[in-house]
Amino acid sequence: MTDTPSPAGRAPGAPLVVLTDVNKHFGDLHVLQDINLTVHEGEVVVVIGPSGSGKSTLCRTINRLETYESGTITIDGQDLPQEGKALARLRADVGMVFQSFNLFSHKTILENVTLGPIKVRGLKPKEAEKQAMALLERVGVAHQAKKYPAQLSGGQQQRVAIARSLAMEPRVMLFDEPTSALDPEMINEVLDVMVSLAKSGMTMIVVTHEMGFARKAADRVVFMSDGAIVEENTPEEFFTNPQSPRAKDFLGKILTH
Ligand SMILES: Nc1ncnc2c1ncn2[C@@H]1O[C@H](COP(=O)(O)OP(=O)(O)OP(=O)(O)O)[C@@H](O)[C@H]1O
Ligand SMILES: [Mg+2]
Repeated sequence: MTDTPSPAGRAPGAPLVVLTDVNKHFGDLHVLQDINLTVHEGEVVVVIGPSGSGKSTLCRTINRLETYESGTITIDGQDLPQEGKALARLRADVGMVFQSFNLFSHKTILENVTLGPIKVRGLKPKEAEKQAMALLERVGVAHQAKKYPAQLSGGQQQRVAIARSLAMEPRVMLFDEPTSALDPEMINEVLDVMVSLAKSGMTMIVVTHEMGFARKAADRVVFMSDGAIVEENTPEEFFTNPQSPRAKDFLGKILTH
């Protein structure tokens, strides 16, 4: 897969994911507070913030793994469907890669990648395999196709998880701390795949504290604290010149380890 072409008639850089005044509670906890966020086609947005600030909840809400109480979330102008076929389609439009690899342990690497395209997109097994092998090649694990997840390193499994998401041909990819469960030597191999994905024009929302990735690949950094977006800026500005006391405090902590 190369660059995701825009459907005809749509200018590049049009708003793709738009959150307007989104609010969500977990009981008494106001976990998402008046979230307004627009991610344009081809844009890479890094979401950063302290533990418990609502970053994962934001991703899960965009993908409708969580409900929300007020506001709107649209993907390419379409309201988020509540259920049924429309929701399955939306889920295919929004790929998600989590901290844990979530591969099916009893299926081979190749089967992990072909399953969705065969079941949801209706591809023939041969076509799905061809596409899967190209994607596994792209993330550097094609030679592992016949193995089972437990036989791969964490970094390799995470790259398979990325290939599996890409196989659904998503419009936008969400990554929730995709490298935080990895041993240090495997972090870069996953980040390299993500940087190349960003370069290919994929729209991405990435929760990560990897500043190298943010600097290399992000158009924008969004800083969350206590359920709210407190600050948004270019990576360079955000890391060198944070504006809010909360961002300054947070960066002071992560920069000193
Ligand atoms: N299903 C749930 N039920 C109740 N509270 C929840 C639930 N999921 C998350 N929370 C709470 O919501 C808040 C935000 O959690 P979330 O996982 O979105 O934070 P985060 O920014 O991703 O944190 P981390 O950096 O640790 O991953 C936390 O206080 C958390 O305890
Ligand atoms: Mg989280």
